[in-house]
Formats: sequence, C-alpha cells, structure tokens
Amino acid sequence: MLALYSRTPLRARAPLCAAARSFSTSPAPHTAARPVERITVFGAGLMGAGIAQVAAANGVKVCMTDVSDAAVENGRAIITKSLTRIARKKSPDDPAAQKQFVDSVFANLTTTTHAKEAVSNPDLVVEAIVENLATKQELFRRLDEIAPTDTIFASNTSSLSIRRIAETSSKARRQRFAGFHAFNPVPQMKLVEIISTDETSPAVTAALLDLCKRMKKVPVQCKDTPGFIVNRLLVPYLLEAIRMVERGDATAEDIDTAMKLGAGLPMGPLELSDFVGLDTLSHIARGWRDERVSTGEIDAQQVAQVQMLERLVEEGNKGRKSGKGFFDYSNN
Ligand SMILES: NC(=O)c1ccc[n+]([C@@H]2O[C@H](COP(=O)([O-])OP(=O)(O)OC[C@H]3O[C@@H](n4cnc5c(N)ncnc54)[C@H](O)[C@@H]3O)[C@@H](O)[C@H]2O)c1
Repeated sequence: MLALYSRTPLRARAPLCAAARSFSTSPAPHTAARPVERITVFGAGLMGAGIAQVAAANGVKVCMTDVSDAAVENGRAIITKSLTRIARKKSPDDPAAQKQFVDSVFANLTTTTHAKEAVSNPDLVVEAIVENLATKQELFRRLDEIAPTDTIFASNTSSLSIRRIAETSSKARRQRFAGFHAFNPVPQMKLVEIISTDETSPAVTAALLDLCKRMKKVPVQCKDTPGFIVNRLLVPYLLEAIRMVERGDATAEDIDTAMKLGAGLPMGPLELSDFVGLDTLSHIARGWRDERVSTGEIDAQQVAQVQMLERLVEEGNKGRKSGKGFFDYSNN
C-alpha cells in the first residue's frame, strides 16, 4: 500500500463542505497518489446517496452535493431509510444503539448545493448525475477549473465512455480521471468496477482500488470498453432474451426458468430486464448503437433495436418500477 502514496503532504484540511469537521493533517507517506480520505459526490440520487452512505459508514469524510435543496434532501432521505434498516438489523432491541449508529454515519457526511464549496479540497470527486454525456462533460469542465489540481475525478456512469466524459478536462486532470462504477443498491452490492482510460495514471487506479477495499467493496479493473465488464456481457444477453420472446421461440416464463435451472442463474433474463428497467435497457442499447458501433467498439448486431422492447417502453411498461414489464408487479 505504501507504494501508492504521494510525496505531496496532505493539503491543509479546511472543511470539505459546510459544517464539516476538521481532522487529521498528518502528511501522507511517499509516492504518487495519497489515500482517498475525503470525497465529494455529485448527484444525491439513488447512486450518489448510496456511494455517499457507504463511504461515510466506513470512515471516509463525504460531501454530497446536488443542484437543489430538495434533491439534497432526497439524498439524505435515501440514506436515512437505508441506515435505519441496517441499524434495526444490527441492534433489533436497542433504539439508542440504532440512533447512535445512524448518527455516527451522518457525522461523516455534509451536504451543499454549492459546487465551488463542494470541491474546495476533496481527494476525490465521484460524479453520479444524470446519464447524459454533455451534462457530465459540462460538470467536469467546470469542476476542472475550480477543484485542486491533484483531486481525482471519477464517473459512476453505467454506459458512457470515460474517455469522452473526461474530454472537457485538462490533460493533467485526465491522468487523474477514471471510472468508479458501483452497483444498485450500493449498500448491498459488493462490486465496484474501476475503469482506466489510456491516460489514467496507475497510481490513481491504485488509490481507487484501495478506497473500494476500505468501503468493504470488491473492486475489479477494466479498460474503458462499452459497459465495462458487467453491462458489456449483460446488455447483449438481455436483448437476445427479449428477441427470443419476440420471435416466439419460447415464453418469458420458460426462458427465465431455463436460465435459472439450466445455467444456475439466480434470476432469469426477462425478470432481470424488468428489474434493471426496460427504459434503461433501451437507453443503453440506443447509446451504444449511436456512439460505439461506428467506432468499432461494439458489434452492431449485439445492440440492434428490439421492437418489442421499444413498444413496451412506449406503452409505459418499464418493468418493476412501473408495475409492469414482461411480468406484472402490481400486487408487489
Ligand atoms: N440506477 C442504477 O441502477 C445505476 C447503477 C449504476 C450506475 N448508475 C449511474 O449512476 C448515475 C446516477 O444514476 P441514478 O440512478 O443515481 O440517478 P438519479 O436520477 O437517481 O440521480 C441523479 C441525481 O443527479 C442530480 N443532478 C443532475 N445534474 C446535476 C448536476 N449538474 N450537479 C449535481 N447534481 C446533478 C439530479 O438532481 C439527481 O438528484 C448515472 O450515470 C447512472 O447511469 C445508475
């Protein structure tokens, strides 16, 4: 681990964002990237709140930021709900211990809606805002100008190219730019994919791997390829399962049963598509068709449009979240 750290002493530790506490100012051991102790998460939605919660629960100082007070409050509510559930499990008969646990995590978490304040001195910025290339590029362009030069930037994108997201940042920053792909729900899912572009410094990758382990996650490394590891394999597979239903090869029920009992998977592909969200699946496939086929990064046939998927989405049947997709969840 020592080999990861920077010759640069830790910056003087001003509060990360409003109401943050001061903490250790001891210099880091030598080498290229210091351990990540302070992170700022942009986006207080499902993923941003999850990442903020897990980091804070494992002793990392976290600032969570979003565009409005309501969005930040939404993030706090997501975290409160999740922590309360964990606390009840940990200490079922002890409300005081439950409260102490929730409070101890929130002690590591501050929030703000001011981007400049949010990036005054984090070691790492994790972006978890809307899945739109131009919006992410614009955020990082702005942050590159105001964040300290040695802050690492990372995106939690599921399907966009990290290299493209980093395009609006300076060359120096691009060496400190990577993907940090956590999975939903973050408190439960162990995996994080750490994505390196051709420019990402190995020390930055190492610092992110180290952070994941301190967050009690299992990190894997991957190049900046469409969908990284999980979605690269999953998306074409789910689309092909939908094509099978569309062609009438087998019913959705039988395809799911076959993959569960024949391939040992915990969930069949149609149920999983409903869980991911049919609109999300359609959005990812369209993005890859539009952006990643012509570059030769992905085969056109793997992401060819599936009429049945588009029709279900148009009809408002987006899967579990809308109550209906391939299966009916209205009574769940
Ligand atoms: N939902 C998933 O299952 C999942 C899994 C892995 C990765 N991701 C990725 O994580 C990212 C976030 O997804 P999500 O499901 O949490 O979305 P979400 O819609 O729940 O949250 C997005 C949040 O970003 C905020 N936001 C938008 N623009 C902003 C800006 N300029 N500055 C700060 N905040 C801004 C919004 O107000 C919103 O609160 C996306 O890139 C998505 O692809 C999602």
